[in-house]
Amino acid sequence: MKFRTIKGVQDITPPETSLWQKVEAIARRVFRTYGYSEIRTPIIEFTELFTRGIGETTDIVEKEMYTFPDRAGRSLTLRPEGTASVVRAYIQNALHTLPAPQKFYYLGPMFRYERPQKGRYRQFHQIGVEAFGTDNPMMDAELLDMLRSLLEALGMGGLAFEVNSIGCPQCRPGYREALTGYLSGRRDHLCNDCLRRYEKNPLRVLDCKSPSCQSLKQEAPRIIDHLCDDCKEHFERFRGYLKTAGIDFTINPLMVRGLDYYTRTTFEVTSSDLGAQNAVAAGGRYDGLVREFGGPDTPAVGFALGMERLVTLLSDREGVHPPGIDVFFAILGEGLRERAFRLVKRLRSAGLSVEMDFLGSSLKSQMRRADKSGARYALILGEDELERGVVKYKRLSDGSQGEVREEELPGFFLGL
Ligand code: HAM
Repeated sequence: MKFRTIKGVQDITPPETSLWQKVEAIARRVFRTYGYSEIRTPIIEFTELFTRGIGETTDIVEKEMYTFPDRAGRSLTLRPEGTASVVRAYIQNALHTLPAPQKFYYLGPMFRYERPQKGRYRQFHQIGVEAFGTDNPMMDAELLDMLRSLLEALGMGGLAFEVNSIGCPQCRPGYREALTGYLSGRRDHLCNDCLRRYEKNPLRVLDCKSPSCQSLKQEAPRIIDHLCDDCKEHFERFRGYLKTAGIDFTINPLMVRGLDYYTRTTFEVTSSDLGAQNAVAAGGRYDGLVREFGGPDTPAVGFALGMERLVTLLSDREGVHPPGIDVFFAILGEGLRERAFRLVKRLRSAGLSVEMDFLGSSLKSQMRRADKSGARYALILGEDELERGVVKYKRLSDGSQGEVREEELPGFFLGL
Protein backbone atom coordinates (compact mmCIF):
# COMPACT_ATOMS: atom_id res chain seq x y z
CA MET A 1 0.00 0.00 0.00
CA LYS A 2 1.22 3.47 -0.86
CA PHE A 3 0.21 5.47 2.21
CA ARG A 4 0.30 4.34 5.81
CA THR A 5 -0.02 6.14 9.12
CA ILE A 6 3.21 7.48 10.61
CA LYS A 7 4.80 5.53 13.46
CA GLY A 8 3.05 5.65 16.83
CA VAL A 9 -0.30 6.98 15.60
CA GLN A 10 -3.34 4.89 14.79
CA ASP A 11 -6.69 4.91 13.06
CA ILE A 12 -9.66 4.19 15.25
CA THR A 13 -12.23 2.40 13.14
CA PRO A 14 -15.69 0.92 13.72
CA PRO A 15 -16.68 -1.07 15.72
CA GLU A 16 -13.99 0.15 18.21
CA THR A 17 -15.22 3.74 17.83
CA SER A 18 -18.33 2.68 19.76
CA LEU A 19 -16.11 1.99 22.80
CA TRP A 20 -14.56 5.45 22.51
CA GLN A 21 -18.01 7.00 22.36
CA LYS A 22 -19.03 5.05 25.44
CA VAL A 23 -16.00 6.29 27.43
CA GLU A 24 -16.66 9.85 26.28
CA ALA A 25 -20.36 9.69 27.16
CA ILE A 26 -19.65 8.34 30.66
CA ALA A 27 -16.99 11.00 31.23
CA ARG A 28 -19.33 13.80 30.16
CA ARG A 29 -22.07 12.47 32.43
CA VAL A 30 -19.80 12.18 35.49
CA PHE A 31 -18.20 15.61 34.91
CA ARG A 32 -21.59 17.27 34.65
CA THR A 33 -22.57 15.96 38.08
CA TYR A 34 -19.48 17.72 39.51
CA GLY A 35 -20.22 21.00 37.73
CA TYR A 36 -17.62 20.85 34.94
CA SER A 37 -18.21 22.40 31.50
CA GLU A 38 -16.45 21.50 28.28
CA ILE A 39 -13.67 23.71 26.91
CA ARG A 40 -12.14 23.21 23.45
CA THR A 41 -8.74 24.67 22.64
CA PRO A 42 -6.66 24.36 19.45
CA ILE A 43 -4.31 21.39 19.10
CA ILE A 44 -1.59 23.74 17.85
CA GLU A 45 -0.05 26.56 19.89
CA PHE A 46 3.06 28.75 19.97
CA THR A 47 5.94 26.58 21.19
CA GLU A 48 6.79 28.94 24.02
CA LEU A 49 3.48 28.18 25.74
CA PHE A 50 4.73 24.66 26.42
CA THR A 51 8.43 25.38 27.03
CA ARG A 52 7.46 27.98 29.65
CA GLY A 53 4.49 26.07 31.04
CA ILE A 54 5.80 22.50 31.20
CA GLY A 55 9.44 23.47 31.80
CA GLU A 56 12.61 23.64 29.66
CA THR A 57 14.31 20.73 31.41
CA THR A 58 11.42 18.25 31.35
CA ASP A 59 11.48 15.16 29.12
CA ILE A 60 8.41 16.42 27.26
CA VAL A 61 10.04 19.70 26.25
CA GLU A 62 13.56 18.37 25.74
CA LYS A 63 12.69 15.26 23.75
CA GLU A 64 9.06 14.75 22.97
CA MET A 65 7.46 17.76 21.31
CA TYR A 66 6.34 17.92 17.68
CA THR A 67 7.75 21.37 16.97
CA PHE A 68 8.12 23.01 13.57
CA PRO A 69 8.23 26.47 12.00
CA ASP A 70 5.11 27.65 10.15
CA ARG A 71 5.38 29.37 6.78
CA ALA A 72 6.02 32.71 8.46
CA GLY A 73 8.89 31.22 10.50
CA ARG A 74 7.08 31.11 13.87
CA SER A 75 7.76 28.09 16.02
CA LEU A 76 4.59 26.06 16.59
CA THR A 77 3.99 22.86 18.56
CA LEU A 78 1.31 20.18 18.52
CA ARG A 79 0.03 20.15 22.09
CA PRO A 80 1.73 17.47 24.22
CA GLU A 81 -0.85 18.00 26.99
CA GLY A 82 -3.87 20.16 27.74
CA THR A 83 -3.17 22.18 30.89
CA ALA A 84 -0.98 24.91 29.35
CA SER A 85 -3.56 25.54 26.60
CA VAL A 86 -6.47 25.69 29.04
CA VAL A 87 -4.57 28.17 31.22
CA ARG A 88 -3.88 30.32 28.15
CA ALA A 89 -7.56 30.14 27.15
CA TYR A 90 -8.64 30.97 30.71
CA ILE A 91 -6.63 34.18 30.62
CA GLN A 92 -7.22 35.09 26.96
CA ASN A 93 -11.00 34.74 27.31
CA ALA A 94 -11.05 36.52 30.69
CA LEU A 95 -12.70 33.51 32.31
CA HIS A 96 -11.14 34.66 35.60
CA THR A 97 -13.70 37.48 35.68
CA LEU A 98 -16.45 34.88 36.16
CA PRO A 99 -17.34 33.63 39.66
CA ALA A 100 -14.77 31.19 41.07
CA PRO A 101 -14.25 28.31 40.95
CA GLN A 102 -14.39 27.78 37.19
CA LYS A 103 -14.27 24.10 36.22
CA PHE A 104 -13.49 22.78 32.74
CA TYR A 105 -13.03 19.45 31.02
CA TYR A 106 -11.64 18.55 27.60
CA LEU A 107 -11.26 15.49 25.40
CA GLY A 108 -8.89 15.18 22.50
CA PRO A 109 -5.61 14.17 20.89
CA MET A 110 -2.20 15.02 22.35
CA PHE A 111 1.18 14.49 20.69
CA ARG A 112 4.44 13.26 22.19
CA TYR A 113 7.42 11.90 20.31
CA GLU A 114 7.94 8.89 22.61
CA ARG A 115 9.02 5.34 21.90
CA PRO A 116 5.74 3.70 20.90
CA GLN A 117 4.64 0.51 22.67
CA LYS A 118 1.38 -0.97 23.92
CA GLY A 119 -0.37 1.77 25.88
CA ARG A 120 2.03 4.48 24.71
CA TYR A 121 1.55 6.32 21.45
CA ARG A 122 2.75 9.44 19.65
CA GLN A 123 -0.77 10.63 19.07
CA PHE A 124 -2.81 9.65 22.09
CA HIS A 125 -6.01 10.98 23.61
CA GLN A 126 -6.62 12.50 26.97
CA ILE A 127 -9.67 13.34 29.00
CA GLY A 128 -8.60 16.20 31.25
CA VAL A 129 -10.11 18.52 33.83
CA GLU A 130 -8.92 21.82 35.31
CA ALA A 131 -10.47 23.74 38.22
CA PHE A 132 -9.47 27.39 38.68
CA GLY A 133 -9.86 29.83 41.51
CA THR A 134 -9.47 28.06 44.83
CA ASP A 135 -6.54 26.68 46.79
CA ASN A 136 -8.89 24.87 49.16
CA PRO A 137 -7.59 21.28 49.46
CA MET A 138 -11.19 20.10 49.41
CA MET A 139 -11.11 20.85 45.68
CA ASP A 140 -8.11 18.50 45.32
CA ALA A 141 -10.06 15.80 47.16
CA GLU A 142 -13.19 16.49 45.10
CA LEU A 143 -11.11 15.96 41.94
CA LEU A 144 -9.89 12.58 43.14
CA ASP A 145 -13.42 11.66 44.17
CA MET A 146 -14.62 12.56 40.66
CA LEU A 147 -11.79 10.58 39.10
CA ARG A 148 -12.72 7.55 41.17
CA SER A 149 -16.41 7.93 40.22
CA LEU A 150 -15.42 8.00 36.56
CA LEU A 151 -13.13 4.97 36.78
CA GLU A 152 -15.79 3.06 38.72
CA ALA A 153 -18.46 4.00 36.17
CA LEU A 154 -16.13 2.52 33.55
CA GLY A 155 -15.82 -0.63 35.66
CA MET A 156 -12.09 -0.29 36.14
CA GLY A 157 -10.56 -2.42 38.88
CA GLY A 158 -7.28 -2.76 40.77
CA LEU A 159 -6.96 0.98 41.30
CA ALA A 160 -4.21 2.49 43.44
CA PHE A 161 -4.13 6.19 44.38
CA GLU A 162 -0.75 7.69 45.21
CA VAL A 163 -0.47 11.25 46.50
CA ASN A 164 2.31 13.62 47.46
CA SER A 165 2.96 17.29 48.11
CA ILE A 166 5.87 18.94 46.34
CA GLY A 167 5.69 22.25 48.19
CA CYS A 168 5.59 25.81 46.94
CA PRO A 169 8.04 28.56 45.94
CA GLN A 170 8.61 29.22 49.68
CA CYS A 171 9.76 25.75 50.67
CA ARG A 172 11.02 24.28 47.40
CA PRO A 173 14.36 26.21 47.31
CA GLY A 174 15.36 24.70 50.68
CA TYR A 175 14.49 21.24 49.41
CA ARG A 176 16.32 21.80 46.14
CA GLU A 177 19.43 22.71 48.08
CA ALA A 178 19.18 19.54 50.19
CA LEU A 179 18.62 17.43 47.08
CA THR A 180 21.45 19.04 45.11
CA GLY A 181 23.75 18.48 48.10
CA TYR A 182 22.76 14.81 48.20
CA LEU A 183 23.21 14.37 44.44
CA SER A 184 26.49 16.25 44.13
CA GLY A 185 28.37 13.48 45.95
CA ARG A 186 26.75 10.87 43.72
CA ARG A 187 27.20 12.44 40.33
CA ASP A 188 28.80 9.33 38.88
CA HIS A 189 25.41 7.61 39.23
CA LEU A 190 23.53 10.22 37.22
CA CYS A 191 22.61 9.57 33.59
CA ASN A 192 23.83 12.08 31.01
CA ASP A 193 20.52 13.95 30.93
CA CYS A 194 20.42 14.32 34.71
CA LEU A 195 24.09 15.31 34.91
CA ARG A 196 23.23 18.19 32.64
CA ARG A 197 20.06 19.24 34.44
CA TYR A 198 20.58 18.37 38.08
CA GLU A 199 21.81 21.79 39.09
CA LYS A 200 19.09 23.63 37.20
CA ASN A 201 16.28 21.30 38.19
CA PRO A 202 17.33 18.47 40.53
CA LEU A 203 13.70 17.31 41.01
CA ARG A 204 13.87 15.90 37.49
CA VAL A 205 16.34 13.26 38.73
CA LEU A 206 13.55 11.83 40.91
CA ASP A 207 11.38 11.50 37.83
CA CYS A 208 14.12 9.99 35.62
CA LYS A 209 13.47 6.47 34.36
CA SER A 210 17.16 5.43 34.00
CA PRO A 211 18.04 2.62 36.44
CA SER A 212 21.10 4.38 37.89
CA CYS A 213 19.14 7.56 38.68
CA GLN A 214 16.33 5.40 40.07
CA SER A 215 18.81 3.76 42.45
CA LEU A 216 19.51 7.18 44.01
CA LYS A 217 15.87 7.82 44.74
CA GLN A 218 15.31 5.71 47.83
CA GLU A 219 17.95 7.42 49.96
CA ALA A 220 17.29 10.93 48.62
CA PRO A 221 15.93 13.65 50.92
CA ARG A 222 12.13 13.69 50.77
CA ILE A 223 10.23 16.81 49.91
CA ILE A 224 7.51 16.18 52.48
CA ASP A 225 10.15 16.58 55.21
CA HIS A 226 10.91 20.08 53.88
CA LEU A 227 7.39 21.51 53.50
CA CYS A 228 6.68 24.96 54.96
CA ASP A 229 3.89 25.19 57.55
CA ASP A 230 1.27 26.28 55.00
CA CYS A 231 2.06 23.43 52.62
CA LYS A 232 2.15 20.96 55.50
CA GLU A 233 -1.28 22.08 56.65
CA HIS A 234 -2.60 21.98 53.08
CA PHE A 235 -1.37 18.41 52.65
CA GLU A 236 -2.84 17.35 55.99
CA ARG A 237 -6.24 18.80 55.16
CA PHE A 238 -6.11 17.21 51.70
CA ARG A 239 -5.48 13.80 53.25
CA GLY A 240 -8.27 14.37 55.75
CA TYR A 241 -10.75 15.15 52.97
CA LEU A 242 -9.63 12.08 51.04
CA LYS A 243 -10.51 10.01 54.08
CA THR A 244 -13.88 11.74 54.34
CA ALA A 245 -14.47 10.84 50.69
CA GLY A 246 -13.55 7.24 51.50
CA ILE A 247 -10.59 7.14 49.12
CA ASP A 248 -7.83 4.68 49.98
CA PHE A 249 -4.47 6.20 49.13
CA THR A 250 -0.77 5.87 49.83
CA ILE A 251 1.73 8.69 50.14
CA ASN A 252 4.56 8.39 47.64
CA PRO A 253 7.11 10.96 48.83
CA LEU A 254 9.22 10.42 45.70
CA MET A 255 6.54 11.27 43.18
CA VAL A 256 7.37 14.64 41.60
CA ARG A 257 5.66 14.22 38.16
CA GLY A 258 7.16 15.00 34.78
CA LEU A 259 5.90 18.56 34.42
CA ASP A 260 7.40 21.59 36.16
CA TYR A 261 4.22 23.56 36.84
CA TYR A 262 3.10 21.52 39.84
CA THR A 263 2.94 22.98 43.35
CA ARG A 264 1.74 21.22 46.50
CA THR A 265 -0.64 18.34 45.65
CA THR A 266 0.42 15.75 43.06
CA PHE A 267 -1.20 12.39 42.43
CA GLU A 268 -1.18 9.37 40.17
CA VAL A 269 -3.67 6.58 39.69
CA THR A 270 -2.55 3.20 38.43
CA SER A 271 -4.50 0.06 37.62
CA SER A 272 -3.16 -3.45 38.07
CA ASP A 273 -5.41 -4.42 35.14
CA LEU A 274 -2.99 -2.63 32.81
CA GLY A 275 0.46 -3.87 31.80
CA ALA A 276 3.71 -1.92 31.95
CA GLN A 277 2.05 1.39 31.05
CA ASN A 278 -0.16 1.22 34.12
CA ALA A 279 -0.65 4.96 34.77
CA VAL A 280 -4.32 5.60 34.14
CA ALA A 281 -4.47 9.20 35.27
CA ALA A 282 -2.28 11.82 36.88
CA GLY A 283 -2.44 15.41 37.97
CA GLY A 284 -1.96 17.94 40.65
CA ARG A 285 -2.07 21.55 41.71
CA TYR A 286 -0.40 24.36 39.75
CA ASP A 287 -1.00 27.51 41.77
CA GLY A 288 1.61 29.60 39.94
CA LEU A 289 0.87 28.92 36.28
CA VAL A 290 -1.92 31.45 35.62
CA ARG A 291 0.31 34.17 37.08
CA GLU A 292 3.32 32.89 35.12
CA PHE A 293 1.30 33.27 31.90
CA GLY A 294 0.40 36.88 32.73
CA GLY A 295 -2.99 36.32 34.40
CA PRO A 296 -4.09 37.23 37.91
CA ASP A 297 -2.86 35.16 40.85
CA THR A 298 -5.15 32.12 40.53
CA PRO A 299 -4.65 28.75 42.16
CA ALA A 300 -5.65 25.75 40.06
CA VAL A 301 -5.70 21.97 40.09
CA GLY A 302 -6.45 19.27 37.52
CA PHE A 303 -5.73 15.84 36.09
CA ALA A 304 -5.71 13.94 32.82
CA LEU A 305 -6.55 10.35 31.89
CA GLY A 306 -5.11 8.42 28.98
CA MET A 307 -8.07 7.30 26.88
CA GLU A 308 -6.30 4.50 24.97
CA ARG A 309 -5.69 2.72 28.25
CA LEU A 310 -9.34 3.05 29.32
CA VAL A 311 -10.58 1.77 25.98
CA THR A 312 -8.18 -1.20 26.03
CA LEU A 313 -9.45 -2.22 29.45
CA LEU A 314 -13.06 -1.83 28.46
CA SER A 315 -12.52 -3.86 25.33
CA ASP A 316 -10.66 -6.64 27.21
CA ARG A 317 -13.42 -6.84 29.77
CA GLU A 318 -16.61 -6.39 27.76
CA GLY A 319 -15.60 -6.93 24.16
CA VAL A 320 -16.91 -4.63 21.44
CA HIS A 321 -20.66 -4.46 20.98
CA PRO A 322 -21.60 -1.69 18.59
CA PRO A 323 -25.28 -0.76 18.78
CA GLY A 324 -27.29 -2.57 16.09
CA ILE A 325 -29.64 -0.86 13.64
CA ASP A 326 -33.44 -1.03 13.85
CA VAL A 327 -34.39 -2.05 10.35
CA PHE A 328 -32.79 -3.52 7.24
CA PHE A 329 -34.85 -2.80 4.13
CA ALA A 330 -34.58 -5.49 1.42
CA ILE A 331 -35.95 -5.12 -2.10
CA LEU A 332 -36.85 -7.75 -4.67
CA GLY A 333 -35.80 -6.03 -7.86
CA GLU A 334 -34.38 -2.73 -9.04
CA GLY A 335 -37.80 -1.42 -10.09
CA LEU A 336 -38.72 -1.12 -6.39
CA ARG A 337 -35.69 0.88 -5.33
CA GLU A 338 -37.25 4.36 -5.55
CA ARG A 339 -40.32 3.33 -3.60
CA ALA A 340 -38.08 1.75 -0.96
CA PHE A 341 -35.92 4.87 -0.85
CA ARG A 342 -38.98 6.94 0.03
CA LEU A 343 -40.17 4.50 2.70
CA VAL A 344 -36.69 4.31 4.23
CA LYS A 345 -36.64 8.08 4.46
CA ARG A 346 -39.97 8.02 6.32
CA LEU A 347 -38.66 5.49 8.82
CA ARG A 348 -35.50 7.54 9.38
CA SER A 349 -37.49 10.75 9.89
CA ALA A 350 -39.13 9.01 12.83
CA GLY A 351 -35.71 8.39 14.37
CA LEU A 352 -35.25 4.74 13.38
CA SER A 353 -31.84 3.64 12.12
CA VAL A 354 -32.34 1.99 8.76
CA GLU A 355 -30.11 0.50 6.10
CA MET A 356 -30.95 -0.70 2.62
CA ASP A 357 -29.26 -2.65 -0.11
CA PHE A 358 -27.30 -0.67 -2.70
CA LEU A 359 -25.71 -3.48 -4.66
CA GLY A 360 -28.72 -5.16 -6.29
CA SER A 361 -27.99 -8.29 -4.24
CA SER A 362 -30.17 -11.40 -4.10
CA LEU A 363 -32.78 -11.62 -1.34
CA LYS A 364 -30.68 -14.29 0.34
CA SER A 365 -27.61 -12.12 0.58
CA GLN A 366 -29.70 -9.12 1.66
CA MET A 367 -31.12 -11.20 4.52
CA ARG A 368 -27.60 -12.29 5.47
CA ARG A 369 -26.57 -8.64 5.66
CA ALA A 370 -29.64 -7.87 7.74
CA ASP A 371 -28.56 -10.56 10.24
CA LYS A 372 -24.98 -9.27 10.35
CA SER A 373 -26.03 -5.66 10.80
CA GLY A 374 -27.69 -6.55 14.11
CA ALA A 375 -31.03 -5.20 12.83
CA ARG A 376 -34.12 -5.99 14.85
CA TYR A 377 -36.33 -6.25 11.74
CA ALA A 378 -35.92 -6.93 8.05
CA LEU A 379 -38.51 -5.31 5.78
CA ILE A 380 -39.06 -6.84 2.37
CA LEU A 381 -40.68 -5.07 -0.55
CA GLY A 382 -41.58 -7.05 -3.71
CA GLU A 383 -43.91 -6.37 -6.67
CA ASP A 384 -46.78 -8.12 -4.93
CA GLU A 385 -46.40 -6.04 -1.76
CA LEU A 386 -46.08 -2.85 -3.78
CA GLU A 387 -49.37 -3.56 -5.54
CA ARG A 388 -51.17 -4.24 -2.28
CA GLY A 389 -49.62 -1.22 -0.49
CA VAL A 390 -47.94 -3.34 2.20
CA VAL A 391 -44.43 -4.28 3.28
CA LYS A 392 -43.45 -7.68 4.63
CA TYR A 393 -41.53 -7.76 7.89
CA LYS A 394 -39.51 -10.39 9.68
CA ARG A 395 -38.43 -10.14 13.32
CA LEU A 396 -34.85 -11.38 13.24
CA SER A 397 -34.65 -12.51 16.87
CA ASP A 398 -37.28 -15.25 16.40
CA GLY A 399 -38.06 -15.31 12.66
CA SER A 400 -41.73 -14.33 13.14
CA GLN A 401 -43.22 -12.66 10.09
CA GLY A 402 -46.11 -10.49 9.08
CA GLU A 403 -47.21 -7.59 6.92
CA VAL A 404 -47.67 -3.95 7.69
CA ARG A 405 -49.55 -1.38 5.64
CA GLU A 406 -47.37 1.37 4.19
CA GLU A 407 -49.38 4.08 5.92
CA GLU A 408 -48.74 2.39 9.26
CA LEU A 409 -45.00 2.88 8.79
CA PRO A 410 -43.11 3.99 10.85
CA GLY A 411 -45.56 3.94 13.79
CA PHE A 412 -45.74 0.14 13.72
CA PHE A 413 -41.99 -0.18 14.41
CA LEU A 414 -41.78 2.64 16.91
CA GLY A 415 -44.10 0.77 19.23
CA LEU A 416 -42.18 -2.53 19.07
P1 HAM B 1 0.63 13.33 32.24
O1 HAM B 1 1.00 12.52 33.42
O2 HAM B 1 1.75 13.74 31.34
O3 HAM B 1 -0.13 14.60 32.76
O4 HAM B 1 -0.44 12.53 31.38
C1 HAM B 1 -1.65 12.09 31.96
C2 HAM B 1 -2.04 10.70 31.43
O5 HAM B 1 -2.00 10.68 30.00
C3 HAM B 1 -1.06 9.59 31.82
O6 HAM B 1 -1.34 9.12 33.11
C4 HAM B 1 -1.36 8.54 30.78
O7 HAM B 1 -2.53 7.79 31.12
C5 HAM B 1 -1.68 9.37 29.55
N1 HAM B 1 -0.51 9.44 28.63
C6 HAM B 1 0.56 10.25 28.72
N2 HAM B 1 1.42 10.04 27.70
C7 HAM B 1 0.87 9.05 26.93
C8 HAM B 1 1.24 8.38 25.71
N3 HAM B 1 2.36 8.70 25.06
N4 HAM B 1 0.42 7.43 25.23
C9 HAM B 1 -0.74 7.11 25.85
N5 HAM B 1 -1.16 7.70 26.99
C10 HAM B 1 -0.37 8.66 27.53
C11 HAM B 1 -0.60 15.63 31.99
O8 HAM B 1 -0.67 15.56 30.79
C12 HAM B 1 -1.13 16.80 32.76
N6 HAM B 1 -1.59 17.84 31.81
C13 HAM B 1 -2.25 16.38 33.71
C14 HAM B 1 -2.83 17.54 34.45
C15 HAM B 1 -3.97 18.21 34.17
N7 HAM B 1 -2.28 18.10 35.51
C16 HAM B 1 -3.04 19.11 35.91
N8 HAM B 1 -4.05 19.21 35.09
